[in-house]
Amino acid sequence: MKLVIVGTGYVGLVSGACFAEFGYQTICIDKDIQKIQKLKLGKCPFYEPGMDHLLSKHLNETKLLSFSSSLTDTIKDADLVFITVGTPSKRLNEDADLTYVWSVADEIAKNIKKYCVVVTKSTVPVGTSKEIKKIIGKLVPEDLFDVVSNPEFLREGSAIDDFMRPDRVVIGSENSKSEKIMKELYRPLYLRETPIVSTSIETAEIIKYASNSFLATKITFINEIADLCEVVGANVQDVSKAMGIDQRIGNKFLNAGPGYGGSCFPKDVKAFSSTAKKFNIDLSIINAVDKANQKRIDKIGDKIMKHVKNNSVISFLGLSFKPNTDDIRDSSSIKLANYLFEKGYQIHCFDPVAMDNAKKEFNHFRYFESAFEACNNTNAIIIGTEWNEFRALNFSEISKIVKTKKIFDLRNIYNALELEKLGFKYYGTGK
Ligand code: UGA
Repeated sequence: MKLVIVGTGYVGLVSGACFAEFGYQTICIDKDIQKIQKLKLGKCPFYEPGMDHLLSKHLNETKLLSFSSSLTDTIKDADLVFITVGTPSKRLNEDADLTYVWSVADEIAKNIKKYCVVVTKSTVPVGTSKEIKKIIGKLVPEDLFDVVSNPEFLREGSAIDDFMRPDRVVIGSENSKSEKIMKELYRPLYLRETPIVSTSIETAEIIKYASNSFLATKITFINEIADLCEVVGANVQDVSKAMGIDQRIGNKFLNAGPGYGGSCFPKDVKAFSSTAKKFNIDLSIINAVDKANQKRIDKIGDKIMKHVKNNSVISFLGLSFKPNTDDIRDSSSIKLANYLFEKGYQIHCFDPVAMDNAKKEFNHFRYFESAFEACNNTNAIIIGTEWNEFRALNFSEISKIVKTKKIFDLRNIYNALELEKLGFKYYGTGK
């Protein structure tokens, strides 16, 4: 099978490299010529564990992966064309902005010469894939293409593993011909007995938003329980542990923290609710989740301000929205650091991989080469992202260089007693 992937963002590139790993001839397309030139040299535009290896393997050794900026040259003998362009929030409201999706659909329509399956992998509101079908159908006879929805469930930082060992694959199609081709595409996963869920196109589109929104709800739920635990002297980590053992609840995504961030949950929760509104459905739980998550930064910021004097210097460790990524989009750490900066605190920060991205946008923070240096002579330490390397920091040395021994462990990665023995005042989340 020959695959064409349109859009070399996060989803497009990871999917392209992984399909090549499955053994398919895969061409990734992007209009951004500079980006394509770098990709041809094997340079991944973002940090993702394992990507450099996959790119180099399939560009240079197997030669199954290639890059191009032209859809016209590549689509003519493709069996499957994937749409993997971004669907950011619109500037003026909370809808998903589908400009890139429509323009790719137009381009595809102009270039189809033989039967192919057009697969929507971008996260799009229900109804979008059928619109794509209409756009292509204006120029291409019905028997030359099918449209399928195949949402992705890749987490940044573990995307390759998620692709190779998914919990499930969702295929939303409207006929058995395209469904069969999609099942054949994912045949390499049969060995692992990966559940393949075949649905209608609309159902597949809803599954994606419902999954992200449910996970965001779980996080927000435990964050609110954490607030209650803090005031009554309970421990939210024990609460999540005990709740999570109940298999009906499950222990994943029950870690309290500074609120969910990243390029998916915040925008998808909003877009889901906004789509439902158009059909006169009020997703009241989802709306409440969005509101609660937005309020969380102020709440945590105000808690820190109660314990750390204004004008103090704060060490901020971790800027990415989660570990193992350099992505700072909608990062709770960045939001909190900005909140505190605006209230008059100085921010000294460190992140193992996200500092270059942060420096481009936030020149009012001071950046340091290590967590240790970022803690020199400061009045409080905030752990914003639970990078593994922060778990093993030498606090006995750090206790000698900080001005005041206070630590706000927003991700609950430390043992309070051990830090208290070193003289630190410890503030966890929900305990
Ligand atoms: C999320 C979903 O997990 C993927 O399944 C989905 O494919 C992806 O969005 C997408 O739509 O493309 P991602 O945004 O990479 O993946 O990151 P998550 O691991 O889901 O984390 C999202 C946020 O929730 C992070 O800010 C993280 O710190 C926070 N989180 C997560 C918590 O605060 N507590 C938890 O217990 C888990």
